Amino acid sequence: MKKQHLEDLLKQMTIDEKIGQLSQLATPFFKGSTESGKITGPLEQLNISDDLVKNTGSVLGASGAKEIRNIQEQHLKDHRLSIPLLFMSDIIHGYETIFPVPLGIGSSWDIELAEKSAEIAAKESAVSGIHVTFAPMVDLVRDPRWGRVMESTGEDSYLNSEFAKAQVRGFQGEDLTKDLHRLAACVKHFAAYGAAEAGRDYNTVNMSERQLREIYLPAFQAALDAGSKLVMTSFNTVDGIPATGNKKLMRDILRDEWGFDGVTITDWGALKELIPHGVAEDESEAAYKAIQAGVDIEMMTTCYPDHLKNLIENKEVEEELLNDAVRRILQLKNELGLFENPYRGLSEENEEKVILNEEHRKVAKELAAKSCVLLQNNNNTLPINTSQKVALIGPFAENNDILGPWSWKGNKDIAVTLTKGIEKRLNNKNQFIVAKGSEIESITKEQLQNAISAAEQSDIIVLALGEHSDMSGEAGSRSNIKLPDAQLQLVDEIYQLGKPTVAVLFNGRPLDLHGVFDKTDAVLEAWFPGTEGGTAITEILYGDVNPSGKLSMSFPYSVGQVPVYYNHYNTGRPQGASDAQVRYVSQFLDIPNEPLFPFGYGLSYTTFSYQNMRLSAPGITPDDTLQVKITVKNTGKIAGDETVQLYVRDMVGEVVRPLKELKGFKKIHLKPQEEMDVTFELTEKQLRYYHSDLNYDSDNGKFEVYVGPNSKEVHTLSFTLTK
Ligand code: GLC
Repeated sequence: MKKQHLEDLLKQMTIDEKIGQLSQLATPFFKGSTESGKITGPLEQLNISDDLVKNTGSVLGASGAKEIRNIQEQHLKDHRLSIPLLFMSDIIHGYETIFPVPLGIGSSWDIELAEKSAEIAAKESAVSGIHVTFAPMVDLVRDPRWGRVMESTGEDSYLNSEFAKAQVRGFQGEDLTKDLHRLAACVKHFAAYGAAEAGRDYNTVNMSERQLREIYLPAFQAALDAGSKLVMTSFNTVDGIPATGNKKLMRDILRDEWGFDGVTITDWGALKELIPHGVAEDESEAAYKAIQAGVDIEMMTTCYPDHLKNLIENKEVEEELLNDAVRRILQLKNELGLFENPYRGLSEENEEKVILNEEHRKVAKELAAKSCVLLQNNNNTLPINTSQKVALIGPFAENNDILGPWSWKGNKDIAVTLTKGIEKRLNNKNQFIVAKGSEIESITKEQLQNAISAAEQSDIIVLALGEHSDMSGEAGSRSNIKLPDAQLQLVDEIYQLGKPTVAVLFNGRPLDLHGVFDKTDAVLEAWFPGTEGGTAITEILYGDVNPSGKLSMSFPYSVGQVPVYYNHYNTGRPQGASDAQVRYVSQFLDIPNEPLFPFGYGLSYTTFSYQNMRLSAPGITPDDTLQVKITVKNTGKIAGDETVQLYVRDMVGEVVRPLKELKGFKKIHLKPQEEMDVTFELTEKQLRYYHSDLNYDSDNGKFEVYVGPNSKEVHTLSFTLTK
């Protein structure tokens, strides 16, 4: 439809029809829905009239070509102007082919594969009738108590930005109008949701604007630069004002400064939550604040439908604000081609062919393997040799709860468990015994006995441990980030046997691994690995695939350290600065300052040496490019992938600068004994940051540059910037 036709359509709309476009309701409210749809938040007692449903602009949580066709068909008949519905759902890390949780994808550092996974997720959901995905979630995370860290790619704004762009490209493709196998992306949750105090979900966020811009906003900007069509507000406050009614955030920064002209949508029920937050007295005031702030669609409450008309008639809200919002929503529908083809990519026939097809499962397996992080491998306990008899013990041995908490269309019954994966791999079934050992949160004597007897008959023990999926995800905050006691007891009992033991972990957050890493020889972090998890992990355990994942979020030494992240400041009294000074420095008396496993960390079955770091010049001006080179060699006996990381520190800033900031990384593949020169380029632009006056600029002076296999073990050189 041409722009002019959209304007004509807008002119024909009554005020109720316009407000209807700003309303989003869950699937069960719609005629033609066959199943209940996904409920992902509290259900309010909503007074939804038939008229509102008729005028509503979008549907939340529907899926399946048949159901969506029915709802759309009915709606086109019921709507006076036959304006098609938009179908939006949470397609987070796969539709039915489930990829690892985003924190796992983050650990792959594989931007291309992440893009591919989003493309596949889009394809499977587009044939099922969905138009918009509530993804990517780009919230930067530093606190593993927060259950939603599993939805993020991690703690670094540069890495998150790379993944944000990749996911948007993967979901949206080049041209949404033409490519019916793509979805519009909705970047979320704007903004700083990941910084909730104490990691308690929905809790207060308080930070300076400088930190907001420097740490929390870049991944949003990146997603918008890549063309994300929508933005979702977050539940939290930002500087005392809930994001959903935050004019500075939603209008001044997002629209005026960044020029975003797409659709904004609240999170589930977040508009009405302005009342319990205490910034709106009632629903009318909540509607007033949200529309002023530039919030277009209200998800799952009815403050707009119930109050916006009055506010406009009383001249408290200008009708043009409503018109603007409707324009943007109609424009999105138009870009998706819905006026010409309201059914878009949906096809029951294609659902059969596309969903969970071999190619998709192959990518899921590859990404699951690349997401696994080998945290420890003493005495080369891994890989397992097929001549070794394996006892697979633990609550995740046969558990199919490996898709993660945000995989609503994923079918656990077809997920490959670790037991199935190993069974498939081994010709000789006598080489493999399975025992549950414990439940996730409880253990019986009998379970323990069986586990010990299985372990005694084996040469090597694989413990499959973890958190069930409800222990992370939305509203899944925990103050204790260790494995449940039952599993720690299991580990301890097995440890007493003194046999080679490997722990494989299934979980959605960095854990405090005391009681696990110190009582096992090898530890493989597998996250919630998705549909092909068992196959991917088996390939790693048996050495068919050499692990290459690197943590994109630090694993704390203990919860008392949290938040702990690599790009922190030095403080005025850094630990270890002087030998004489032991007490009055910034430290804990009982635990180290360093996390147990730092950002960027992950082992391989081979070893890499880093040598001969060099710079192309001792200094640069804004017109130059500095080349940072290092020679990386595979010093082991098998081929492997390495992620070479580049960090920078501005030694003297106008405001305090982090000890390290990731500025680049390269994934390389090296055969045994092969070496390669890895080159990074740095320019003045990459050295800029927000000064105290929020000016984004760089400083003259000295910088240190680091290259290494993780954020801790680095080679260092320095250079100067002269402007
Ligand atoms: C939720 C989430 C959000 C999701 C939305 C719709 O409560 O916070 O991430 O997209 O509801 O399901």
